Amino acid sequence: MKKEIFKPSREFAKDARIKNMCEYQELMDAATDDYEGFWGGFAKEKIDWIEPFKNVMDESNFPFVKWFEGGKLNVSTQCIDRHLGSRKNKAAILFEGDRGDKQSITYLELYYNVNRFANLLKNDFGVKKGDRVVIYMPMIPEAAYAMLACARIGAIHSIVFGGFSAEALRDRVQDANAKVVITADGAYRKSKPYMLKPVVDEAIKGETPVEKVLVVKRNNEKIEWHEGRDFSYDELIKDQPIECEPEPMDAEDPLFLLYTSGSTGKPKGVQHNQAGYILWAQMTMEWVFDVKENDTYWCTADIGWITGHTYIVYGPLAMGATTVMFEGVPTYPDAGRAWKMVQDYKISQFYTAPTAIRVLHNMGEHEPLKYDLSSLKVLGTVGEPIDPPAWEWYHEEVGGGRCPIVDTYWQTETGGHVISPLPGATPIKPGCATLPLPGIMAEIVDKDGNKKEPGDTGFLCITRPWPSMIRGIWGDEDRFIKSYFGDVKQNGRGVYFTGDGANYDEDGYITITGRTDDVINVSGHRMGTAEVEAALAKEDEVAEVAVVGRPHPIKGESIFAYVVMKHSLEESRFDSYEAIEKEMNEIIKKEIGNIALCDHIVFVPGLPKTRSGKIMRRILRSIAKGEEITQDISTLEDPSIVAKIAALAKEK
Ligand code: PRX
Repeated sequence: MKKEIFKPSREFAKDARIKNMCEYQELMDAATDDYEGFWGGFAKEKIDWIEPFKNVMDESNFPFVKWFEGGKLNVSTQCIDRHLGSRKNKAAILFEGDRGDKQSITYLELYYNVNRFANLLKNDFGVKKGDRVVIYMPMIPEAAYAMLACARIGAIHSIVFGGFSAEALRDRVQDANAKVVITADGAYRKSKPYMLKPVVDEAIKGETPVEKVLVVKRNNEKIEWHEGRDFSYDELIKDQPIECEPEPMDAEDPLFLLYTSGSTGKPKGVQHNQAGYILWAQMTMEWVFDVKENDTYWCTADIGWITGHTYIVYGPLAMGATTVMFEGVPTYPDAGRAWKMVQDYKISQFYTAPTAIRVLHNMGEHEPLKYDLSSLKVLGTVGEPIDPPAWEWYHEEVGGGRCPIVDTYWQTETGGHVISPLPGATPIKPGCATLPLPGIMAEIVDKDGNKKEPGDTGFLCITRPWPSMIRGIWGDEDRFIKSYFGDVKQNGRGVYFTGDGANYDEDGYITITGRTDDVINVSGHRMGTAEVEAALAKEDEVAEVAVVGRPHPIKGESIFAYVVMKHSLEESRFDSYEAIEKEMNEIIKKEIGNIALCDHIVFVPGLPKTRSGKIMRRILRSIAKGEEITQDISTLEDPSIVAKIAALAKEK
């Protein structure tokens, strides 16, 4: 790792919203001195309230915290209507399809499209405030309209990433008790059509809360049609009125659910509410990306993840920016696709995941040089730590050595960035998320809440509630309390624990060391080991299974599974271990989706367990990494198993 520190250039800093570390410190001090005054001030300034709030924060029922109570707003008007004065003809969304088809949608057009969509949901589908609507869509503008239409009428959307399988979709639909699913026939990837609607058909087969399915046409492939249940968006949208009165929402009404993996098998429906979420989405957009009026901003995430929610749709639109939405993959048809888009759209801020950077780097060291990338001002990364070679390449080859890289640390639960450099202020150290954003009381502590010394790894916590904090796990209060506030206490009260380990350096900068729970980060996607194990255990021949993460040069981590079979190969119905591996990955595809495929499956005679039956995952992680086992294994029920597993794993 280069020990260099990269200071913001004077030229950039001069026009930045936060121009230097003194300004950063002033904001931090303002939050420390008067926390409610700090947040209340920004909430008044940034949000177009229908009715003003009476109370900034109420934490009397901690961890169930309320922000901006008494206030009424509508997130779709915050994102659209209020821009119609000066930004009516400004592009809100610039869409590029996989095959290069383009659409530019102005704020006025967005207004009409969202209003029509909202009327369709309200009048034709009978969707009411508080109803849950599942969105299972490709990256097309209608996905953003769907989100904003839900927000307009007060419905709670729950987007399920289009790569999830029918089973995974079914679980999420059932858990949210959704009565409507919005989908598309399919879309395009690498010029080829792929399908979504058949997955929905499968997911809601049999008993289901879903009454209606709205289908957007994208690839025009043939699909099954269930009369009375399936409706064509393209037909219904035509006759909808272009005005839909926005529903005045309480600041603490739910805005959306987004399911994410935890350390148990069942995904958690993370709930975000209206005002606090949109406030922080907008503030972080402004501070961290420093987007200016004439900038064009591109985040390559998918709307199925929190990054897509906050930094493709809600954040950029709340601040009135132009956001690029891309259906395809940045490496298709060639390694120059992303850079050509940067050139063509004159992208100012480019935000992507380290995995994508590594892939692009691998495909062409000097590929970016073939394009004019001089429009770039800020580069961003998200989702996983960025390693030095990827950082240096991104900085030099993509950013021409002149763009600050904002390494944004955050989570589905935090709603928006919580630790990140400010591009005009923070001296950047490669691979380091640097400092908490103003207003975020992030600390690295031990179990009792004592702050760690520089160099010592501890639990990364946020010790005071903040506006965009997770409000609950849908339908499971106990799990919410236990998952986030049960591990670390400070002054006798549980504090929000991120699940990540981290350490301070001598300057108080924060480096994330990774999850401390059984969550694996594959290509920036969060996978619960328990979820993968539960899927693999569905194979009849499997007696026991344990899954761990193994460092991977491109994906960050890959999934490594240890499997104990019920019978020997000869006694099983398979004729080779390869056949079992294939079958097991088929199960993963069916139960979860391709994102959870196991790169390595090793068949072992047993798992390293303590006498009380607990699997020692630390040992399995070390074996997967090819490390010498230095841990004490004498407490294992059968210490000899470790050498046997290690020998078998060595071949993988
Ligand atoms: O482990 C951290 C890692 O991603 C987790 C959050 O995953 P998810 O909720 O899916 O949201 C991803 C996009 C925000 C965190 O607990 N993570 C996220 N950003 C970083 C990171 N690890 C290191 N550096 C980051 N910048």
